[in-house]
Amino acid sequence: MIVCVCHRVSDREIARHVRAGMDFDDIQFELGVATQCGQCESCARDVVAQCSAAAPVAAIQLASSITEGRAWTSQQALGPV
Ligand code: FES
Repeated sequence: MIVCVCHRVSDREIARHVRAGMDFDDIQFELGVATQCGQCESCARDVVAQCSAAAPVAAIQLASSITEGRAWTSQQALGPV
């Protein structure tokens, strides 16, 4: 989905930049999002917030599955390699 029509920036492109460690200001500088008419700013900020919130949860879930031994159990369920 195109978020910024003026600069033709998609939600996927914003998400890719968030995963690279950029915040909204970095992305705005890099891609020009919300620098022309400004109509896309709230939507772009929402995309950044959703992507920023998703990464730490995934990391926590992965870490807890390792410490609780579930990762090992799931490997055992696959049988011998
Ligand atoms: S739609 Fe993004 S600046 Fe106009």
